[in-house]
Amino acid sequence: MEKQLLIQVILRDITEQKKLQERLAVTQKMESIGELVGGIAHDFNNILTAINGYAEMALQKIKSDKWEYKIVNNILRSGKQAVDLVQKLLGFSRKQIIKPKVIDINKAIRELNDMLVRLIGEDIEIEYFLKEGIKPIKADHMQIEQIIINLCINSRDAINQKTHKASRKKIIVETNEIMISEEFLKSHFGSATGKHIIISVSDNGAGMKSEIKERIFEPFFTTKSFGKGTGLGLSTVYGIVKQNKGSIYVYSEDGEGTTVKIYWPVSREKKIVETVTSEVEQVIGGNETILFVEDDEAVREFSVATLKELGYKVYEVSNGLEAVGMIKSGLKDIDLLITDIIMPKMGGKELEGIARELIPGLKVLFASGYTDNYIVHSGVLEEGVNFIQKPFSIQAITKKIREVISKD
Ligand SMILES: Nc1ncnc2c1ncn2[C@@H]1O[C@H](COP(=O)(O)OP(=O)(O)OP(=O)(O)O)[C@@H](O)[C@H]1O
Ligand SMILES: [Mg+2]
Repeated sequence: MEKQLLIQVILRDITEQKKLQERLAVTQKMESIGELVGGIAHDFNNILTAINGYAEMALQKIKSDKWEYKIVNNILRSGKQAVDLVQKLLGFSRKQIIKPKVIDINKAIRELNDMLVRLIGEDIEIEYFLKEGIKPIKADHMQIEQIIINLCINSRDAINQKTHKASRKKIIVETNEIMISEEFLKSHFGSATGKHIIISVSDNGAGMKSEIKERIFEPFFTTKSFGKGTGLGLSTVYGIVKQNKGSIYVYSEDGEGTTVKIYWPVSREKKIVETVTSEVEQVIGGNETILFVEDDEAVREFSVATLKELGYKVYEVSNGLEAVGMIKSGLKDIDLLITDIIMPKMGGKELEGIARELIPGLKVLFASGYTDNYIVHSGVLEEGVNFIQKPFSIQAITKKIREVISKD
């Protein structure tokens, strides 16, 4: 009798361990794909800064009734689509730069309703069960939108894929709170203990087989036909959740439906920050002196040309060391230093330190295609650091420059 019990216990132990090993292997695989994808996305960001930038510049020179205008406009449109794609890849590799604020998740979800209805179609009902008085979380508003929209679109596709007869087509969006215990972790690999909120999206769509379920977070994994899906939706969601120290689980029954559950840590700060509506973008120039430091030639040329066009006096160099040399040899009258973060010989952060010693009170604007530990910690911007995400549009860079220069 005792022997039997012992054997049982050992057996269970091994299966648990095997499961854990499998999950660890999946996590490691996702990590390495993330690194690869992040690297590619970073390089593409630089290339796109130049392509879109020059296209924008050309558009400003061409009259809108000329045929050339249409062509360049098409280049720009495709270029912008490429930027969206790169943003998704950066999202997956957790290299999206985020500005998390303390938010009320229920409010964020409610505000999305109109857009969701438009995306999903009137024939599918969305039902909400939002926990009243839910604890605030720290999150980037745009990332929350990305998550909810991606999950609801997946649900829509799964519902439309199924031939519905009696049952109503339905998506349920739910929020709740949970205190994650050590015990819970045993069945939820990748979670952390403590207070969390739960965001879950369920549907009564086609569901998935377990072979598919195992791969859904992989970038470019899709079962949808060409042009319908890129297979980046859930990879982005996964990356975002991990970047924010959360966890994500998928429950699905083939032929019945799917639930995606996200656990997101509750914010320690309580004060909810109201989101500001975006203003109309316009191009504003200036006549100040800028030292522009960037190792990517295409990005540098385009940026410098743009800034000169807008009236700025611009000096350009390709790394931090050259910039220091230039300042030491007498260029002290600079209003703004714009520098890339990662460069050969001397990066942006080291340059900032030396330049500020040589020119006290110098204003600095960092530009980067993705996060870097010097400036941002796992994608979260340090307070008070001026930063612009590449690729930047002419509007974005000019607006940012005015903002930094006019700051005290
Ligand atoms: N709610 C769901 N029900 C059934 N299958 C799903 C659901 N969500 C995702 N899947 C499966 O997971 C795959 C990957 O999803 P993911 O969102 O990453 O990519 P996609 O929807 O195919 O393309 P994209 O989101 O880039 O447009 C889908 O192709 C689908 O097979
Ligand atoms: Mg999708």
